[in-house]
Amino acid sequence: MAHTIVAGNWKMNASKNAVTKLLSELKLGVAAVNNAELVVFPPFPYLAQAQAELMGTSIGIGVQNICASAKGAYTGEVSLAMAREFGVSYVLVGHSERRALFAEDDAQVAAKYVATQAMQLTPILCVGETLEQREKGLTLSVVTSQIQAVIDAAGGASFANAVVAYEPVWAIGTGLTASPAQAQQVHKAIRAHVASIAPEQARGLKILYGGSVTAASAEELFAQADIDGGLVGGASLQADSFLAIGQAAK
Ligand code: PGA
Repeated sequence: MAHTIVAGNWKMNASKNAVTKLLSELKLGVAAVNNAELVVFPPFPYLAQAQAELMGTSIGIGVQNICASAKGAYTGEVSLAMAREFGVSYVLVGHSERRALFAEDDAQVAAKYVATQAMQLTPILCVGETLEQREKGLTLSVVTSQIQAVIDAAGGASFANAVVAYEPVWAIGTGLTASPAQAQQVHKAIRAHVASIAPEQARGLKILYGGSVTAASAEELFAQADIDGGLVGGASLQADSFLAIGQAAK
């Protein structure tokens, strides 16, 4: 696996035509991305299309959310087994929009993380502080408590098969990016927190930065010691900017 992961969270944006265009452009450009694994996270209705278009390429597929339950009376939900049938290998859990807009709490996030690993898929556990929390000096305690909730449920060893994404809420979709130094400080604290329970897993843990990542900001972010890639929203909707972010991985 490439050292750097560049994940494209499309959120609730796409159409059949847009997916065809974006994925064909990504397929044409991916050969020039030498040091990053590209993964796209389409909305559920486009998974079959993504699987068909990306078959035989190095571009991976993930989903933006999942149901922690296996099957049954969960109207409107999608299971891990369903996602897996469409070539999905990564699952975002606990994205701040899920936490804030759909009231997902740490216990639900942990349940989704555990269920994802039980299906041999890789959770990307999203954590991050709000602006108010940052201004009160609570950034590191908020982020480590979000990580700890998952450690309590799944154990430190589970981080051998997981990715963490640090996404300051105030930087998502706002055009404000944490500075490389601000991001590195939090990434280092996340790795240290996991290391206090599972040192070996912490060393290999990939920690992505997310929040208004662009081609212009990616190179310096990815050069930080504890930043192992990016979770990209807006800039993942255009092939040229997503590929340029991939190429920023050295
Ligand atoms: P953004 O979104 O790059 O548009 O800020 C990132 C995310 O929410 O994953």
